[in-house]
Amino acid sequence: MIRNVGLLVAAVCAHAMMPMPVRVAPGTGRMAIDNGFQIVVSGVSDARLEAAAARAMARLSRQTGIPFLGAKGSAALRVECAAKGSEYPTLGEDESYTLDVTANGAVVKAATASGGMHGIETFLQLVGPGAGGFQAAAVHIEDRPRFAWRGLMLDSGRHWMPVAVVKRNLDAMAAVKLNVFHWHLSEDQGFRVESKRYPKLHELGSDGLYYTQAEVREIVAYARDRGIRVVPEFDIPGHTQSWLAAYPELATNPGTYQIGRTWGVYEPVMDPSKEWTYEFLDGFFAEMTALFPDPYWHIGGDEVRDTQWRASAHVQAWVKEHNLKDSHAIQAYFNQRVQKLLQKHGKILIGWDEVLHPDLPQDIVVQSWRGAKSLAEAASKGYRGILSSGYYLDHLEPARQHYAVDPLGGDAAKLTPEQQARILGGEACMWSEYVTSETVDSRIWPRAAAIAERYWSPADVTDVNSMYDRMEAVSRVLEWTGVQHRANYQPMLDRMAGGRPAEPLRVLADAVEGVGLGPRARAQRYTSLVPMNRLPDAARPESESVRAMELAAAKVAADPKGSAAESAMLRRAFAKWSENDARFVEMAGENPLLVELKPLSKDLAALGNAGLVLLDYLEKGAALPAGFTGNWDQELRRLARPEVEVMVAGARPVKVLLEAAKK
Ligand code: ACM
Repeated sequence: MIRNVGLLVAAVCAHAMMPMPVRVAPGTGRMAIDNGFQIVVSGVSDARLEAAAARAMARLSRQTGIPFLGAKGSAALRVECAAKGSEYPTLGEDESYTLDVTANGAVVKAATASGGMHGIETFLQLVGPGAGGFQAAAVHIEDRPRFAWRGLMLDSGRHWMPVAVVKRNLDAMAAVKLNVFHWHLSEDQGFRVESKRYPKLHELGSDGLYYTQAEVREIVAYARDRGIRVVPEFDIPGHTQSWLAAYPELATNPGTYQIGRTWGVYEPVMDPSKEWTYEFLDGFFAEMTALFPDPYWHIGGDEVRDTQWRASAHVQAWVKEHNLKDSHAIQAYFNQRVQKLLQKHGKILIGWDEVLHPDLPQDIVVQSWRGAKSLAEAASKGYRGILSSGYYLDHLEPARQHYAVDPLGGDAAKLTPEQQARILGGEACMWSEYVTSETVDSRIWPRAAAIAERYWSPADVTDVNSMYDRMEAVSRVLEWTGVQHRANYQPMLDRMAGGRPAEPLRVLADAVEGVGLGPRARAQRYTSLVPMNRLPDAARPESESVRAMELAAAKVAADPKGSAAESAMLRRAFAKWSENDARFVEMAGENPLLVELKPLSKDLAALGNAGLVLLDYLEKGAALPAGFTGNWDQELRRLARPEVEVMVAGARPVKVLLEAAKK
């Protein structure tokens, strides 16, 4: 058996294998995909599997250009499930499958429909063009997830995410075997679900941007059909200004409230001392729990400001009466009441790590976002938990950083096996302060695919270069499932260019990377009304072309005279940067969207010139001229900080060459 992931993928995989299966044993020969190819569901009949097979056929047809006519004698993919399984995916269900591909055909065997669907997705990753036509290499695969809870959280509260955005992301989730869609549905800036019982919630709390109950049911069914559970989050008692805009009676402080327009943590908070609050929530849960079949119900519970509780005479009188020792105890009281209501409505409470408190029963689930420590603490105290700290996609950190975070790493590594078993998995989080429906996919994908591998694949699948090679391939493949993380890039640049050819802007954009929530918030005051239409919105979290240059620069640095191909590639790229500035300035003219980028373009040109000089000196083996090193050390330090809310990623390959040339 081949242990090296890179070799394995090269042996069997047409373009992308992610997440990496538990066991991959290449066989001999290949299965031809021709116009007689079909996917046959055998064994138990299952509507979800039949639908998954039909979708896979449609995807393959588009990908290969083959009209599948059902001609006789062709190889087929047979999917056999041992049992029907539940209609709705359940936490901890058997998702394992085996996949055997031979020249005569392929077979997926699974215990449940979810496993069957995972097998189909893996098969799709094997198919690609080869000599004689489309084909899948012979292979034997055994696969099962490492963690049962593999989630993606999407914030529909801060920026509205239309139904189509949710659906296309569910398709991409299924492609990389993520199985929990955590749907953040209410925020200070928006309450996003139609309520028939409390209609002011969506009427006054959403700017008209909300999901009807029919749409919620449609999305839940769409996810279920792809083996994905939907866990809704209605964040309480903080993060509730949109609720208070509709029902100010819920607030600790009397007054009138407006939907939030700015980012940050708000002070208004629900009144935990009023019985009416719990009566309202009881009615709310009665209505909303009927929309979501999942047994888990997320109450948020994060970042509760206690300013109003401490300043309120009636809350303080109530605190004394109930002998509550601090604000955390107030929140725990509130959570206990909420937990009992949810239990009555058949739901298990899950909340952000602030909900952790000894007064809460042990069946609740804790989602750690402030640090992995709280996850280990929860598990050691008998609670189940999931990890999100380290998986915040909105920070726009490189995939390798998320990939290095393991739900069972850090303090969790020191837990007993019994305690570790309480760690159910993890969730990547996409908060939406700085994304719109146009840009959100590019902040989720492809990095969420690397995180999905962390949740699915064995703990020892950690080779970062292999991950990047496969993630870049899977990134292209994911577009075929409908997400638009790559597709929206060029049109955004074209729009910024105001109808002029955008090529010089494209050169600049390819060499920079977007920055996360922190640097954007520090750069200027954003509100929900700001259109996210500038370079920092179009720029990708990670530049593929710069990564290729970094790899080439590392080769040149190690062996300047023996890396001719890499040197030539770098020279072309540096020359392009160098020559781009004059074209960019001409194109930018007085365009306000581009004028702000002129210094950036100058920096890129200077980097290109420096790169060319460094290549010359490295190839000659000569010492750098006096002044050059000091000057560029300083420049690279400056360029390590954000500029116009992007990072000049192009500085990285230059730094590699500079360090090599110093020696
Ligand atoms: C959170 O990021 N406030 C859960």
